[in-house]
Amino acid sequence: MNLTHIKIYNDYDKMSAAAAELILDVVRTNPEAVLCFATGNTPVGTYRELVARAKESGTDFSRCFCIGLDEWLGVPGNKSGSCKYILQEQVFDPLAIKQTQVHLFDGLTTAVEAECEKMNTLIENKGGIDCMLVGIGTNGHIGFNEPGVDSRLKAHEQVLHDSTLDAGKHYFKEPTPIKKGITLGLAQVMQAKMLLLLANGVSKSAIIRKALEGEISPAVPASFIQQHTNAYVLLDKEAAAELTL
Ligand code: PGA
Repeated sequence: MNLTHIKIYNDYDKMSAAAAELILDVVRTNPEAVLCFATGNTPVGTYRELVARAKESGTDFSRCFCIGLDEWLGVPGNKSGSCKYILQEQVFDPLAIKQTQVHLFDGLTTAVEAECEKMNTLIENKGGIDCMLVGIGTNGHIGFNEPGVDSRLKAHEQVLHDSTLDAGKHYFKEPTPIKKGITLGLAQVMQAKMLLLLANGVSKSAIIRKALEGEISPAVPASFIQQHTNAYVLLDKEAAAELTL
């Protein structure tokens, strides 16, 4: 991995602004870009900045295409807390991105394999993902690729770890039974033409060190980012605190 692509910012807002600018550059260069966005606490500031800066600069998102990274299985997309609901609220609606420009996983699918196949085919037909933004779980997951995952997998169903379920609870307003997720696989993360990994806060410092300086292993799914040829890791000072490089 190109270490110049590890960027450390004084605070969360500066990290978010930088991530937003990278995404805007992708869309300005290629208005038909295929984008893939994570949900969670980490990218909230990036999406806020993206929307504000897109409006300010008149950047046109009307021809780009958005692919889902993951979804909680058993949770409908119209429920607040679902990945679909969050992306709709934080990204698609404010940027006037139409339903025809979006393809997300259906959390209510009863045919997970077919749902995965549909996503895999779509990504291939689109010529791959141009820009993917992901966070990192405290256990090293990317999307719902939990420790131990086969790094060759494309879209697949994943039994979620306790730490993911614990973190997940906070995204929902009311108790929501979740056990599994559906996610793009590490193979697709690695194939993204540009990968942005964001992390902020002291709770991410240990896993960031393992992911960036530790052994590349399925035990830390995010460690595969070290093999990506065009990955940007954007960190605030707290998340970067344990890096030694
Ligand atoms: P967070 O989640 O952004 O809410 O910390 C990150 C993740 O689990 O991928």
